[in-house]
Amino acid sequence: MLQERIEGKWLAAFRRVFALNGIGKGTQVAILSETQSRPVLVHLCELAAYDLGADFCMICMPTPPQTAPVPVKSTGTSWAIQQNRAVIEALKRVDIVIDCTVEGLIHAPEWPEIEEAGRARLLVITNEHPEILERCEPRAELGPKVQLGVQMLREASEMRVTSAAGTDLTVDLRGAPCGGTAGFGTTPGSVAHWPGGLCLAFPGQNAVNGRIVMDVGDMNLTFKTALTSKIAFTVIEDFVTEIEGDGIDALHLREYMRAWDDRNAFGLSHVGWGMNPKAQWVSAAMYDKRDMQAVEFRALAGSFLWSTGANQYAGRFTQGHFDLPMRNCTITLDGRVVVKEGVLQGELVL
Ligand SMILES: [Fe+2]
Repeated sequence: MLQERIEGKWLAAFRRVFALNGIGKGTQVAILSETQSRPVLVHLCELAAYDLGADFCMICMPTPPQTAPVPVKSTGTSWAIQQNRAVIEALKRVDIVIDCTVEGLIHAPEWPEIEEAGRARLLVITNEHPEILERCEPRAELGPKVQLGVQMLREASEMRVTSAAGTDLTVDLRGAPCGGTAGFGTTPGSVAHWPGGLCLAFPGQNAVNGRIVMDVGDMNLTFKTALTSKIAFTVIEDFVTEIEGDGIDALHLREYMRAWDDRNAFGLSHVGWGMNPKAQWVSAAMYDKRDMQAVEFRALAGSFLWSTGANQYAGRFTQGHFDLPMRNCTITLDGRVVVKEGVLQGELVL
């Protein structure tokens, strides 16, 4: 069993990552957590901030009551701030928010206001066991690769995704906001998470059509499971209209989606690919679910990552969210191959 205690090597890793995120002497830092946060992560953040001479405060919120009809995991939408005005105002006044909330603030309703105040940047320490963070530590070299991938997405009009398993998906990228993170940022408003390393786009309305066939070994990050059976999705004008499959994977996925009783839960959220060579598919076989938030699997180099649920850029809001990384897909942008059968191509390779 993995122990959750301070290790010198983990503190050293936190110090390096904080430094990469521009934290040094006198940097104004807020470490935000909630009562259900993983204590060892909060403690490591506190010690690293102290060692680097940061001027920091620690804010801990009570974890809010559940409101959804099913358990909600790995969404990147923390409700921990609960519109608390004192917390929002405090976070606007720091240079960087170190986010140890369970789900993370990336899609939190309060983040846009904090960002628009023009000062704070965000570093999400995802709720992984420190051993996973240690292995997936952000490296400066990944920064330009992720930037290049995001640029390629921005310049493209169409993404096409195919696979031998039967996937054939077309995404209209025109006007789609694109982003990504290598796991660090140093400018106001930047959003980073550790583990990092992905490029993605949020397609607009009537932009996604085709068929997605998930195969054995692909992953469902909401359930933190590797598939043992196939699931085939029909996508028409941004919405999953049919989910076929006889295995437990399709059965649970259908059940979870229907539990929301919300058409938007069937909408496409983001599409993209992973960039981090340290992220490993086989980690899914090596860790208990309690040891991971599964963000490592969002960053798998050469994976096709697609998701269902909220897409604010297409005007769709819902709490139901699946992140679904796939192996062995070929991704093209306007006919240019960026990922071939699950392997990153050309200049994107670190
Ligand atoms: Fe997602």
